[in-house]
Amino acid sequence: MSETVFTYAAPGLKFGRGASHEIGWDVQQLCGGTATGAATGGTRRVLLVTDPGVAATGHPDRIAQQVRAHGLEVVVHTSARVEPTDASLEAAVALARDAGPFDAVVAVGGGSSIDTAKAVDLMLTNPGTLLDYVNAPVGGGRAPEHPLLPLVAVPTTSGTGAESTTICVLDVLALKVKTGISHARLRPTLAVVDPDLAMTQPAMVTASAGMDILCHALESWTARWYADFDAKQPQQRVPYCGANPIADMWAEKSMTLLAGAFRRAVRDGGDVEAREQMALAATFAGLGFGNAGVHVPHACAYPIAGRVRDYRPEGYPADEPIVPHGMAVVMTAPAAFALTHDASPERHRRAAELLGGTGGSLPEVLRGLMRDVGLPSGLAELGYGDADVDDLVAGAMQQQRLLATAPVDVTPDDLALVFRESLEHW
Ligand SMILES: NC(=O)c1ccc[n+]([C@@H]2O[C@H](COP(=O)([O-])OP(=O)(O)OC[C@H]3O[C@@H](n4cnc5c(N)ncnc54)[C@H](O)[C@@H]3O)[C@@H](O)[C@H]2O)c1
Ligand SMILES: [Fe+2]
Repeated sequence: MSETVFTYAAPGLKFGRGASHEIGWDVQQLCGGTATGAATGGTRRVLLVTDPGVAATGHPDRIAQQVRAHGLEVVVHTSARVEPTDASLEAAVALARDAGPFDAVVAVGGGSSIDTAKAVDLMLTNPGTLLDYVNAPVGGGRAPEHPLLPLVAVPTTSGTGAESTTICVLDVLALKVKTGISHARLRPTLAVVDPDLAMTQPAMVTASAGMDILCHALESWTARWYADFDAKQPQQRVPYCGANPIADMWAEKSMTLLAGAFRRAVRDGGDVEAREQMALAATFAGLGFGNAGVHVPHACAYPIAGRVRDYRPEGYPADEPIVPHGMAVVMTAPAAFALTHDASPERHRRAAELLGGTGGSLPEVLRGLMRDVGLPSGLAELGYGDADVDDLVAGAMQQQRLLATAPVDVTPDDLALVFRESLEHW
């Protein structure tokens, strides 16, 4: 029998310039405090998680001070690694366990900091190891038994939507593959999106994170329709239920905002209006894909990022090679949307139109945008060649949770074609 039900969930949201000035009050409420006095029942302790690059902007310290002003104790851990690994998450968890107990967690940063906070929160509240909770087949696919501590997520990039999703993405070093933990309990309690915090993003971070927004919107908009899945029992429902009427609205609006703001935000990081629209676009895309799901470009991105050799993009920490998430995702997007085109030609055409394409196909519109925001010209520029295709395909085939949301059945041969066509875009 086919599915007849779709689901939608989202955290509380505070959006707008200056929203981050109210976090002290928000955290106090979540810790059981009152609006006028210190939290009741002893001093409540808050863990603030960030990364060194974001810490250098001064935002985390300012937010910590403000939370302290509401009578709470705050411990700041600059423990997030850019593009977290199992090792970096375990180190952040160990640090937090030593410094605990805590009553709430605040994440200030991009997806890397927010995902690190999710992993820390999970392991402060639930038994076992991190790998127990990682999606099968890479990990044990265990569901957290206990609720997590309240998590306030404060993004400083406009990209991942991690402030509203149930996902924590990590690189499992021994397997050279990125994967995730996904469960409703990981969804932050409150998302505070203040576009002012995103003003300092370097141009390549803006470009790469912006491509993440774009692919979240496009992949959820073209995902397998929720009613085309088999009917589920209540206990079988997963956060990603396929494209549906509610997720569609977020995706469409997100693409319209991107069409107006993406190029401007990369060209002039000080353009307040463009930054605000990018922050909205990221939030909208997150609210959409966090329920509908993503598919082929995200599945392909995980081995691209996980098997990196020596790529060090401008604007990111130079100590270790990385392929930033949004860059890894969009590299295969033109070929992936050529693969999925026949499943819903009208949606692919409409997406190209929403993105401001004047008659071009979706892959053409995507390549034009990639070139305009200064992204690499293809996987070859990231250090990959024909000889890597088999390994990349094997890594992408492990992302069955994502491939299940694709609008077509995806074979290893299909993925090999996608990777080959993505080696050089221009
Ligand atoms: N949980 C989810 O739903 C989800 C979704 C997509 C991606 N992700 C994950 O998120 C991570 C990527 O996150 P991201 O793209 O937000 O970037 P990021 O958190 O990795 O940060 C990128 C770089 O920008 C710096 N930075 C961030 N904000 C800044 C600011 N305002 N000013 C100056 N520098 C700033 C950081 O220090 C870092 O060097 C990846 O690990 C990816 O897999 C998670
Ligand atoms: Fe993403």
